[in-house]
Amino acid sequence: MPLLAKLLRRKPIPARAEDALDTTLKRTLGKWQLTALGVGAIIGAGIFSAAGTAIAGGSEHVGAGPALVVSYIGVAIACGFAALCYAEFAAMIPESGSAYTYAYSTLGEIVAWIIGWDLIIEYAVGNIAVAVSWSGYFQQLLRGFGMALPEWMATDPITATKAVHTVAQATQAGGGASVPPYVVRAAQALSEAPHLFGIPIVVNIPAVVIVALITWILVIGIRESSWFNVVMVVIKLAILGFFVVAGLRYVRPDNWTPFAPNGLKGIWTGAALIFFAYIGFDAVSTAAEETKHPQTDMPFAMIASLIITSVLYIAVTLVLTGLVPWNHLGTAEPLATAFSERGLNMAAGIIAVGALAATTSVLLVFQLGQPRILFSMARDGLLPPVVAKVHKKHRTPHVATIMTGIFVAFFAAFMPIAEIIELTNIGTLFAFVLVAIGIIVLRRLEPDRERPFKTPLVPFVPLIAILSCLGLMLGLPVLTWIRFGIWLLVGLAFYWFYGRRHSVLRRKDREAAAAPGGGE
Ligand code: ALA
Repeated sequence: MPLLAKLLRRKPIPARAEDALDTTLKRTLGKWQLTALGVGAIIGAGIFSAAGTAIAGGSEHVGAGPALVVSYIGVAIACGFAALCYAEFAAMIPESGSAYTYAYSTLGEIVAWIIGWDLIIEYAVGNIAVAVSWSGYFQQLLRGFGMALPEWMATDPITATKAVHTVAQATQAGGGASVPPYVVRAAQALSEAPHLFGIPIVVNIPAVVIVALITWILVIGIRESSWFNVVMVVIKLAILGFFVVAGLRYVRPDNWTPFAPNGLKGIWTGAALIFFAYIGFDAVSTAAEETKHPQTDMPFAMIASLIITSVLYIAVTLVLTGLVPWNHLGTAEPLATAFSERGLNMAAGIIAVGALAATTSVLLVFQLGQPRILFSMARDGLLPPVVAKVHKKHRTPHVATIMTGIFVAFFAAFMPIAEIIELTNIGTLFAFVLVAIGIIVLRRLEPDRERPFKTPLVPFVPLIAILSCLGLMLGLPVLTWIRFGIWLLVGLAFYWFYGRRHSVLRRKDREAAAAPGGGE
């Protein structure tokens, strides 16, 4: 077989969706639990943290101002098109590998590998950002009770080093007083840090602890984690509802003018950033093997969770930008900032609790999803077999779960949040593009296949999904593109030296060729 054909070999899709199912995982989730899983994944750091920079702008961004509401609407529509593509695949191939599995059946092994590798950016790398955001709100809450951790235990060395430079520059320029308090605090981390062999120790302990706790919950079992998620989702929906209802009375319509201070550019780069807020509807697909009726429940849960969260985001953004002038919101906790600026300190504290619940459930869903993708890749021979082990008692993919926990906790201890959000966005958008291409390709290759859910108006819906995702990718900084390119290259090297040689499909091809009468 020529090399290209080998790299593009496709994993056959079982004729009926039921046959795709593996029975080693427990099948306990219904459609509303799945929808809760989606909402749990979607509402998190994107609205509670990234919205601030998207509205007011930051070092590399111009702010969208009140027009961020337009960005939220636009991204919701783009994600809706992508969700319609995901839903067709999730219903047809209800396996736990999500886009990775879909690509294996449509675009071939090497594309599947690229997407599986890329999904590590969406799930594990994305969760690094969420864990860091969790830690920030946790510190804020402790501060409210007057018992914050020493700064060197709750930030990362890169942020601390940058903060020291910012403070030094501002002091030299005679503007030390204008440095925001959170920058001053981060700078303190370095001066107060204990030293080990002469090196200052600055490490984000709360981020590590929350990831460790969640990993433990997930190893114990999916039923427990699903109920934990439902409780968290109820809390965060209530708190966002509270923000809208309590804030509505304080809205000053004057704050909505100018509506789009940086015009289309602000709306576009804002959209590329707050795309992070919508990531997660697709994570529902990784629980396919633990769902009672994946064929109908998968499409339902994805679309339902997207609709619920879009409506909330639009309402929250309108109230948020109505409360205070748009350029006052450039903090990591914009919702709390808006309330405290209007003197509503108690309400700001409630929001901090909500943010903790929100980010906890996001962490939970992605820590749940990542091991299931790794599990599928290992089952196909593209990763070492130990990764596909299922715990005898708990029947969860415990090795992959613990590996994911260690990876996320390690980087959450030392990495800053902003760059990680952008990297996550580019990786996820790329996965959406490949899934939409996969829909068009499979409709051509296998037009008669049974499709329990059909993406409407193919090829137009997938094409719109592709174009809008590419448009959002172009709104991200060049450095993000470079980092993403390097990540993909590392992945390709890994595939070349490991996955290509150990692929189960390759072994089957070989065995078929070696059998009497077989041949390549
Ligand atoms: N959508 C998730 C969040 O905003 C990733 O935290």
